[in-house]
Amino acid sequence: MATKDSRIADARLHDKIMSADDAAALIQPGSTIGMSGFTGAGYPKVVPIALAEQIEHAHQYGRPFQVRVWTGASTAPELDGALARANGIELRLPYQSDPTCRARINDGRMEYIDMHLSHVAQAVWEGFLGHLDVAVVEVTAIRADGQIVPSSSVGNNKTWLDCADKIILEVNSWQPEQLEGMHDIYYGTRLPPERKPIPITATGDRIGSPYFRCDSDKIIAVVETNAPDRNSAFSPPDDISRQIADHILEFLEHEIKKGRLSSSLLPLQSGVGNIANAVMSGLAESRFEGLTAYTEVLQDGMLHLLDMGKLTVASTTAFSLSPTATERLYANLEHYRSRVILRPQEISNHPEVIRRLGCLAMNGMIEADIYGNVNSTHLMGTSVQNGIGGSGDFARNAYISFFMTPSTAKGGAISCIVPMVSHVDHTEHDVHVIVTEYGLADLRGLSPKRRAEQIIEKCAHPDMRPALRDYHHRAMSGSSGKHTPHMLDEALSWHIGYLRDGQMPPSR
Ligand code: COA
Repeated sequence: MATKDSRIADARLHDKIMSADDAAALIQPGSTIGMSGFTGAGYPKVVPIALAEQIEHAHQYGRPFQVRVWTGASTAPELDGALARANGIELRLPYQSDPTCRARINDGRMEYIDMHLSHVAQAVWEGFLGHLDVAVVEVTAIRADGQIVPSSSVGNNKTWLDCADKIILEVNSWQPEQLEGMHDIYYGTRLPPERKPIPITATGDRIGSPYFRCDSDKIIAVVETNAPDRNSAFSPPDDISRQIADHILEFLEHEIKKGRLSSSLLPLQSGVGNIANAVMSGLAESRFEGLTAYTEVLQDGMLHLLDMGKLTVASTTAFSLSPTATERLYANLEHYRSRVILRPQEISNHPEVIRRLGCLAMNGMIEADIYGNVNSTHLMGTSVQNGIGGSGDFARNAYISFFMTPSTAKGGAISCIVPMVSHVDHTEHDVHVIVTEYGLADLRGLSPKRRAEQIIEKCAHPDMRPALRDYHHRAMSGSSGKHTPHMLDEALSWHIGYLRDGQMPPSR
């Protein structure tokens, strides 16, 4: 039965309230499960752990038990970590950042499909990914009319609730009831040839409902929880992040002088991690005013900009805040309600909207090559780090697309500027600006050879420049084609050299 202060107002569901163990027991081996969760926000807190225990138990008795897990993006140790440790995940999509998942993917025990985040919902509707058996979704409350108040991330939950055969809801009373009204769930997406324009013409436009619709007949279990989201604290910006942020701010000033941007810039998209967060902190000290954000994660730096009034409105699909920033947000939700909109990721990352609004997209990367191709996902060409996330949705469609990285990794042993990337996520055609602590290469309007000069001289670590220059010069004379000159037998030697003996190849 629902307790006195229960968030489950729909009386039809009261006899479906049960423990996490009982709910998990309703999930069959081999199921495909659509779980909520996006960067540590809004993931189910207890059913995945209970499922992991049941999987471990089955394995102890020699019974095979694995599931296929679809989410919004990365989640938390209670979901990805618990299920991966139990050897319970056969296949995972579309983005993860969990160390146990990563290890299992890279040693070949777990299948992983790394997808553009905007593609996931449509691929499910198109039938490209197969059948969805169960949705396990965290929510803030269930209204008397059966409509659902979403939680701290929206992700793909609308699609999971619509497409799954069966639904398990976790109603988390840790999520404040005042979240109600912040979400904008758009039900107008259709598949070709029925598709219509997405009617967002300004960052703050609301085009949908604050609630998920949900067929209550499909709900097989409701589990009450009271558990916090698991987002970790950001490190304070270090020197390298600050230098990267400074180069970007200087570049934005330059664009204003050239008349290509105004002082309110264009809607900001900021990727995951400390460097992206540092850029937002840098904006706090800038003269820019009246900013907006059309992005997929709202991190601490953006919340600070909202607090200052520099950022007037932010559209996102998830909060990705440190515990202290979450506390601030949740204590003042009335203030933020008119300034923050949480949308499904198929809309927060929709190429049409990103192109129309003209976002300034700023994302991290693993490495870039001298011609501007970017690797966001793979270490040394074969091991996945996290996934492409929304970086491709934004990069291809942005007004200006920035990729940022420290110039070296592993204590200076590896150059993040290389002759040829060991894996390509973003091609030279989608990358406008590359930034490291040493400088910023503006690649717009440059041919490949001119791009190489800019990237080597502005972005590479000074110790790596002689070897990169040498490669480029020899490639220009020795390459059979002179448009994108390469020495193919040598192009990946930087990675091979490091893999062999941990050393960069000497300049010849
Ligand atoms: N070669 C080999 N290893 C490298 C490397 C390179 N060129 N660059 C980084 N690494 C290693 C680091 O040493 C670190 O390894 P460790 O964990 O063993 O120390 C690891 O890769 C992660 O690097 P780090 O600098 O800590 O990454 P980050 O937190 O700044 O994130 C990305 C960088 C690219 C991994 C991250 O931005 C990402 O996942 N991007 C893709 C998704 C995305 O862009 N989403 C945006 C929309 S929200």
